[in-house]
Amino acid sequence: MKKILVTGGCGYIGSHTIVDLIQNGFDVISADNNSRSHAGIMTGVELITGKKIKNYAVDLCIFDDTCAIFQENPDIEGIIHFAAYKSVGESVDHPLRYYENNIGSLVNILRCAAEFKVPHFVFSSSCTVYGNPESTPVTEETPFQPAQSPYGSTKQMGEEIVQQTMNSLSGQQAILLRYFNPVGAHPSGNIGEIPLGKPANLIPAITQTAIGKLPQMQVFGTDYPTKDGSCVRDYIHVSDIAHAHTLALNYLIEQKNTGNCDIFNLGTGNGYTVLEVIETFEKVSGQKLNYALAPRRPGDVIAIYANNDKARNSLGWQPAYNLDDMMETAWNWELKLKKDEKIFKSSQSELN
Ligand code: WQD
Repeated sequence: MKKILVTGGCGYIGSHTIVDLIQNGFDVISADNNSRSHAGIMTGVELITGKKIKNYAVDLCIFDDTCAIFQENPDIEGIIHFAAYKSVGESVDHPLRYYENNIGSLVNILRCAAEFKVPHFVFSSSCTVYGNPESTPVTEETPFQPAQSPYGSTKQMGEEIVQQTMNSLSGQQAILLRYFNPVGAHPSGNIGEIPLGKPANLIPAITQTAIGKLPQMQVFGTDYPTKDGSCVRDYIHVSDIAHAHTLALNYLIEQKNTGNCDIFNLGTGNGYTVLEVIETFEKVSGQKLNYALAPRRPGDVIAIYANNDKARNSLGWQPAYNLDDMMETAWNWELKLKKDEKIFKSSQSELN
């Protein structure tokens, strides 16, 4: 079995990807210092896969500690690098925290990948790199607009750093995966998103309002030039995102890549407005949502959704979940969190 290092393995997308990798025959280790995640999520991973995952609780900004993982695991054949801070709002308030963490950890991981000749590298990128696109749907060739936040800048820079590193190394290949809006939870209900503090993202804001953790949620802007005035996004189930990583690794292992750093959009290709998402949630959950119409949120992109032809045609990726499934699994997970809230309580403390 090929051994894969998943950084950020205790995170939302990381944990779902570990499940998919194991179910597709890979051996997996994780590196996650739980600064933005909860070690307890691995219990859910083990429930689903029957496998106990070794997690190195290492700060990847410390080179020697990062290098020690590779010294202990010289048989690592691939790296999927998720570990990064991802709150747009927090990045605006603390830009240097984001550059230091997101770029520093990436540089260390790439240094180790080179030193230990790890052949395959998958980078967790984001549709945020497109900024406010001039036209939609966006393809992988759509030119970048200025990033809307320091977080978005770290993803644009991250892509550049990976591409330039791969050009300088022989025999190493990378893939950049640009996620649109990852939402939902594993159908088993054993893993899902655990927001730290008050959720910034739409789906956890909806489910926490519906379950009574939040008194009311706000719809940020209903005067945009869209079908109902609210922003348009391409919501994609986290398990579909996870499976794309397994397909991307196999694409590299089977040497199907066309260059040393291929890029893929991971979205359904469908754009939904905020109000349409709320309507779908109410239909699927049977819960009437308490929301208010509020002013626009600074930095919000008006509308973005993916052209996913490349991932479908080259990776053989076929998103399996629709918006109803995304709302249903997200709601089931919120109900589970309420039942087991002691397990994850510590992770829901406010961000420092
Ligand atoms: C979606 C829409 C909000 C909350 C996020 C991450 C980014 C990237 C992509 C990983 C917007 C509206 C939200 C609320 C609302 N993920 N909204 N009320 O900003 O598209 O980007 O996913 O790489 O890191 O930030 O997602 O869920 O925050 O917002 O009306 O309480 O929902 O205005 O139009 P976003 P989001």
